[in-house]
Amino acid sequence: MFPWRRKSLLFARVLLFLKNRKTVARRRNAHMLKYPDAKVISLGIGDTTEPIPEVITSAMSKARLLFRAEALSTLEGYSGYGNEQGEKPLRTAITSTFYGDLGIEEDDIFVSDGAKCDISRLQMVFGANVTMAVQDPSYPAYVDSSVIMGQTGQFQKDFEKYGKIEYMRCTPENGFFPDLSKVTRTDIIFFCSPNNPTGSAATREQLTRLVQFAKDNGSIIVFDSAYAMYMSDDNPRSIFEIPGAKEVAMETSSFSKYAGFTGVRLGWTVVPKQLLYSDGFPVAKDFNRVICTSFNGASNICQAGGLACLSPEGLKAMSEVIGFYKENTNIIMDTFNSLGFSVYGGKNAPYVWVHFPGQSSWDVFSEILEKTHVVTTPGSGFGPAGEGFVRVSAFGHRENVLEACRRFKQLYK
Ligand SMILES: *[C@@H]1O[C@H](CO)[C@@H](O)[C@H](O)[C@H]1NC(C)=O
Ligand SMILES: *[C@@H]1O[C@H](CO)[C@@H](O)[C@H](O)[C@H]1NC(C)=O
Repeated sequence: MFPWRRKSLLFARVLLFLKNRKTVARRRNAHMLKYPDAKVISLGIGDTTEPIPEVITSAMSKARLLFRAEALSTLEGYSGYGNEQGEKPLRTAITSTFYGDLGIEEDDIFVSDGAKCDISRLQMVFGANVTMAVQDPSYPAYVDSSVIMGQTGQFQKDFEKYGKIEYMRCTPENGFFPDLSKVTRTDIIFFCSPNNPTGSAATREQLTRLVQFAKDNGSIIVFDSAYAMYMSDDNPRSIFEIPGAKEVAMETSSFSKYAGFTGVRLGWTVVPKQLLYSDGFPVAKDFNRVICTSFNGASNICQAGGLACLSPEGLKAMSEVIGFYKENTNIIMDTFNSLGFSVYGGKNAPYVWVHFPGQSSWDVFSEILEKTHVVTTPGSGFGPAGEGFVRVSAFGHRENVLEACRRFKQLYK
């Protein structure tokens, strides 16, 4: 009789679900009230801390790449709406930098305000009536945005076990790659490599199997490569390195963790024109429709910054920032290794995934916070298979990372 009442009830529960995700911040704030003099160090959320290289910000303010902030106040330099898909020079630079000889073309690239925003827009493309699989554990945005879309089947008490979401267990036992023979067929497969939070990266052979699995099942892979530039091992940095992937996969990525653009906001999604629905309609056309309807393209100033990132000096500056965080990662890895923990990740991503067998992630999180004033992230927040783990982020100033490690050594010596 009152369909809107049912809808808002659904939304209230969705919001409750999302609120639970915010607990780390709440706990940190409560801790700071309790210990006002403590120097709290946050290695929790994966936010970058090091300044954006000068070569990039100067392009945003005054260099002559694309747009410049100063020129927007002049008649000649002003511009309004741009291309919804992104400015051509940036799309070209993304194509040649990241997909050089992989057969991706400039018009397959959709520039955006970040991977997270694109994930939500992809959910709009897919609609509520699809099934999806995620790595367990994984970046919560995949599940959260699908819950908001209503891809939840029946609401149950335990939100982690939603009818339409297939959790692909990724644990040390299976080398953090799901046993595909046990995975139920879904329409969409979200796959993040290098993975947040486990830091593991899938090998060429594993991704080849994943692409074949998607082909056999008529599934679409949404590959998240936001940490690809952190890869040390010789694993694929893009799903399109796998032959045949263009027919089954799209890829989303971002400047956030490469150039410190978490606040600037700039990313992109690749939707190859070879990716078709079962009726032969290109997925890219649907995505383009959503982009043009609910987004008007990334900020022109940010796009100038993105273009600067991909210049020779920009690439060098980004790799220095990444190198800095990778050193942080090594310091954290060495600390937990020396204390005798089983430690995963670290090598291909700025996250260290520490195992505390038999303990609850939240208990470990609380003990670390209470005794060392260091904020980490409980692994169970990334999915049921994250229980018993804690994620330590390598995004931090060096002195904070060193100090946090000294405190870990005190706690666990
Ligand atoms: C949703 O999916 C089911 C099962 O595949 C199908 O029967 C139904 O028609 C779909 N509904 C819509 C609105 O597409
Ligand atoms: C999905 O792919 C796997 C592996 O290729 C295959 O064994 C399985 O039968 C497929 N499932 C469906 C429903 O097609």
